[in-house]
Formats: sequence, C-alpha cells, structure tokens
Amino acid sequence: MENSYLYTQPVNLQKNMKTIVFSAESYERPFFERINAAYGHDLGFIEAQLNADTVSLAKGIDCVCAFVNDRLNAEILEKLSEGGTRLIALRSAGFNHVDLEAAERLGLQVVRVPAYSPHAVAEHAICLMMSLNRKVHRAYNRVREGNFQLHGLMGFDVHGKTVGIVGTGKIGECAATILKGFGCRLLGFDPYVNPACQALGMEYVDLKTLFAESDIISLHCPLTPDTKHLIDAEAIATMKDGVQILNTSRGAVVDTAAVIEALKKGKIGSVGLDVYEEEGDFFFRNLSNTVLQDDQLARLLTFPNVIITGHQAFFTEEALHGIVDTTLANIQKVERDGKSGNEVSIQKHVVG
Ligand code: NAI
Repeated sequence: MENSYLYTQPVNLQKNMKTIVFSAESYERPFFERINAAYGHDLGFIEAQLNADTVSLAKGIDCVCAFVNDRLNAEILEKLSEGGTRLIALRSAGFNHVDLEAAERLGLQVVRVPAYSPHAVAEHAICLMMSLNRKVHRAYNRVREGNFQLHGLMGFDVHGKTVGIVGTGKIGECAATILKGFGCRLLGFDPYVNPACQALGMEYVDLKTLFAESDIISLHCPLTPDTKHLIDAEAIATMKDGVQILNTSRGAVVDTAAVIEALKKGKIGSVGLDVYEEEGDFFFRNLSNTVLQDDQLARLLTFPNVIITGHQAFFTEEALHGIVDTTLANIQKVERDGKSGNEVSIQKHVVG
C-alpha cells in the first residue's frame, strides 16, 4: 500500500518527552518508528502490559503510552506519579480503564485518540454479522474436511431486516451507512441524535422499542456506569427470539452470564464479540499452550453460533497509522502548549 501520508507531518527534530510505550506489539513498532521521524520523540518500547509488576519500568519517564488492557487504576497511577510521570497518552478512544479521579488528584494529564478509523470498527462489526449469518466459520472448516453438505448453514437475507444501533456516534454512523446499503430498517438509541444517521433514515427510539423490534443489535456506545450490563437478562427477555447481538464496543456492556443462558435456551440466535468483560487477562496474548482459566469464555467458545475475535476491530493499516500519528501529535502538543485538545478529564466526560 502506498504510504504517501507518512511525509505530511511538520518536521520537528527536537527531542521531546521521554516516552515508554507499554503493550508494544511488533506490528506497531514500524508505525511508531516511521511516523516518529517527523516528531523526534525519545521513545522506548515494552512488550509487557502495564500493571503492578511492570510499573517500576516507567520510573523517571515523563510520558507513559498505554493501550486498552494496560492497568491504569489508582494504585498504578500513584506509582507512575511518584516515579515522575506526568502524561498518560492512550492509544485508544475508550478510556474506561483509567481511574480519572485518581489521575486528576495526582495531576496526571490523560490524552487519548478520539477518532482514528471508525470504518475499521464498523466494518468488523458487519464482518461478524455476515459471518454469523451465513456461517462462514463453519463452512470454512467443513469444506476443508471435504464435506460439501449445506445442512446447518442456512442464513437469512439481511435486506429488509431491522437493525438496532446502540450508540450512534462515529462508529455507529459508519455501521448505519453500510447497513443502509444492505437495505435494512435502522433503529437508533443514543442520548444525542446524530443528524447524519437521521439522514440515512434511522429512526431514534427508546431502548425498549429497539430491543423489541430489532433482528440484529449492534453495540457502539462507550462503557460507562449507564451502559454497564446494558444487555442483561431483563433486556434479553424483551428481544425477538433468534436475535443477533454484536459487541465491538466494550465487554462489560454485555452481561456475559446472561448471554450464555440465553444462548443455551435458544433465545439469542447468534452472538459476535470482539470484546469480552474479562479480556484483560487473555486478549493480545498467545495462550494456546495453557489451559483456559475463564469458564465463561471457555463456555462461549463452545457455541457454534458465537464468533469471538480478540479485540481486533480497530486493526487495520489506516487505523494503526491514525492511532500512532495522533498519539505522537498529542505528546508533542502537550510538550509545546501544555495541552493537546484530546484531554480526558472527569469534568469533560461526566458519564465517561
Ligand atoms: P463516539 O464518541 O463517536 O460515539 C459514542 C456514542 O455513544 C455517542 O454518540 C454517545 O452519545 C453514545 N452514548 C453515550 N452513552 C450512551 C448510552 N448510555 N446509550 C447509548 N449511547 C450512548 O465513539 P466511537 O468512536 O463511535 O466509539 C464507540 C465505542 O467503540 C468506544 O467508546 C469504544 O468503547 C469502542 N471502540 C472499540 C474498538 C475495537 O477495536 N473494538 C475500537 C474503537 C472504539
């Protein structure tokens, strides 16, 4: 792919803040190294997750760059602050994993990447939707075994179905745009109306109506106290039999135990998850030689009508470029102007 965007940043070769990138994967480093040529930050990379065992590695480091499963609770933030860290640069849009109250008390600045490629996440949600519907995961294995029968592979036309989108922000809007192309009826629930979604013909309804009328429900809201376990046993009971639920937002928006019960009873038709309530202990790691210790995750993996991906919805070339570029720009702006414009604070984000 042509990477012409790599040379569009203002060149600034002065050494900036000392930064350590935690949970740094080998696929991210080339992006950091290429794009940082224009910023000149003093970067270090640590593959390990930021947690109580690794926090000491950040001693004397101005800026800690963290991803979604790094631990940023009060205890870790206190240790970072004691060690001289003053900036937490999140490589994510979501910030539910940061104790903002503690950060504020300690005078730690927190910045994030509010938008990179909403298309990446929305397209992945649709990928889960279609794979589950047409059972591509099962067909793939079956055909490789020389079994060309169709029994059990029947899907449904998405055209004409009602899709409920919870959270109609950037990603929800992209999902709605794609689904409009499929010929779906669109229902939306969000405390704020998005005119672009309305222009697509989305009807804003209350949650009760969305649950009752949707054939497919796709979650695109942040995790906040209001959205924790939004999909619980009570909510599921009001949904259509055979409903498809897609979660590419945050694991805890869904009550996993309730979903498992509803799958066992056949109430839920299929589930696509890119996120999981307890994913912090598992995702982004190769655990194929160990015994899976999470019984709920293990149970979910036994259902033929469940597809789980390990928080990869964001994982496209374009999104990674956007994440790294905005992260490095955030650090530079804080260094130069004291703020980046992408701050996360309790006052600014009352519900998260
Ligand atoms: P956004 O901020 O553009 O949109 C979020 C929408 O949710 C807003 O319109 C907001 O009003 C709405 N919302 C807030 N509280 C709500 C509630 N109680 N009920 C319904 N809607 C509510 O954010 P964006 O970029 O669309 O991202 C959405 C979420 O997707 C992020 O918060 C993050 O958790 C998740 N995400 C997942 C990724 C993945 O790789 N799986 C990658 C990026 C984001």
